[in-house]
Amino acid sequence: MSGNPLDHGVSESVHDAGLAARLPAELSIVVPTFNESRNVPLLVEALRNALGDTRWEVVFVDDNSPDGTADRARALALEDPRVRVVHRFDRRGLASACVEGILATASPYVAVMDGDMQHDEKILLAMLARIRRGDVDLVVGSRYVEGGGMGDWNKRRIAMSQIATALANKLTKTAISDPMSGFFMLTREAFMGSLPGLSSVGFKILLDIAASSPTPMRVAEVPFTFRTRQHGESKLDGLVLWEYLELLLDKTFGHVIPIRFVSFALVGGSGVVVHFLVLTIVLQVLLAMFGTTAETRWFAIAQGVATLVATSSNFFLNNILTYSDQRLKGASLWWGWLTFNIVCGVGLFANVGIARWLYQRHNYLVLSALAGIAVTTVWNYSMSSIFTWRKRR
Ligand code: GDD
Ligand code: MN
Repeated sequence: MSGNPLDHGVSESVHDAGLAARLPAELSIVVPTFNESRNVPLLVEALRNALGDTRWEVVFVDDNSPDGTADRARALALEDPRVRVVHRFDRRGLASACVEGILATASPYVAVMDGDMQHDEKILLAMLARIRRGDVDLVVGSRYVEGGGMGDWNKRRIAMSQIATALANKLTKTAISDPMSGFFMLTREAFMGSLPGLSSVGFKILLDIAASSPTPMRVAEVPFTFRTRQHGESKLDGLVLWEYLELLLDKTFGHVIPIRFVSFALVGGSGVVVHFLVLTIVLQVLLAMFGTTAETRWFAIAQGVATLVATSSNFFLNNILTYSDQRLKGASLWWGWLTFNIVCGVGLFANVGIARWLYQRHNYLVLSALAGIAVTTVWNYSMSSIFTWRKRR
């Protein structure tokens, strides 16, 4: 053996914290952050205390938090080479942040944990010891196994979490008692196996990874108690439920149709309801005000208003749900609205044209109409993904 410190086997600790800090990491801890500037220094300090002479690094993946979390993390990185930052711009999303963070590391073991001090860093060593044994691919920090706990969660959130868990276990066929956990460690090999199948939507990255594994993952669990947040606030909102549904759908049908398209089509369906609602109301009001003498004209006006309202409602819903990861804001929101209307306007012509052509040939009313709608939905979807929610290059 040469004296080169790099010759140390991957699973060995170096009994000198100063040296360990300068060696390649055995464990990379990926921490997604959004507005956690006050927590980031606390977490780094906690990791230092908890991990001792383990060769670790922490990678903060920040989505350009307005509170300057990335700056805070960079300042820490200048003091300690074990701290690194991936700063993403114009992006949002917990799952994709974790994936990109993991991909920015090289160590054989990676952990994902929240940046708000709610996850107990003291179990990291136990998790590492467990995974080093080599007979499991994944170690989950679990709130549900003996010794774990929910902290101060309210009843409603506990119930929701349990329902989601039951659903998840059906889907992944892996028995993880806490598949919603955002605190886990896995081997790079296992992660690479799941990578091609990942959906990367929403909050549930562990579930995504476990469900995307080509072979069922071998799992161990280490209990911990969720801590109460001291600084900042939770980013989990009503959208999380929708994103969770999206993830389940994608894991079930994603290999057949892209989940964005499903979301787009569902929003389109809601647009039909909006359309008829507005049409009826406007028509009734016009008829009540001006009488039935010019009924066709009132109908045309009501139809026009309904179309505009339904298209706008589709646009805003898609912006919130279908494209939650690249939501348009400010001026681009209005520009997006305009391009969406143009795209849908053209789509409408295509719809009528195709439906008419089919109807002339075969006389099947419903089939012709449905074919028109299908073609328009595909058109609207692909064109709006190019012109309205185009990815910045
Ligand atoms: N980069 C990035 N981008 N980070 C984000 C984003 C985002 O869009 N949204 C949230 N985060 C970060 C937060 O800053 C925090 O470090 C972590 O992700 C978890 O977010 P919280 O807002 O604190 O979530 P929570 O405490 O309500 O939920 C946690 O517990 C759940 C139950 O175990 C998360 O870990 C969930 O994943 C988990 O399911
Ligand atoms: Mn939290």
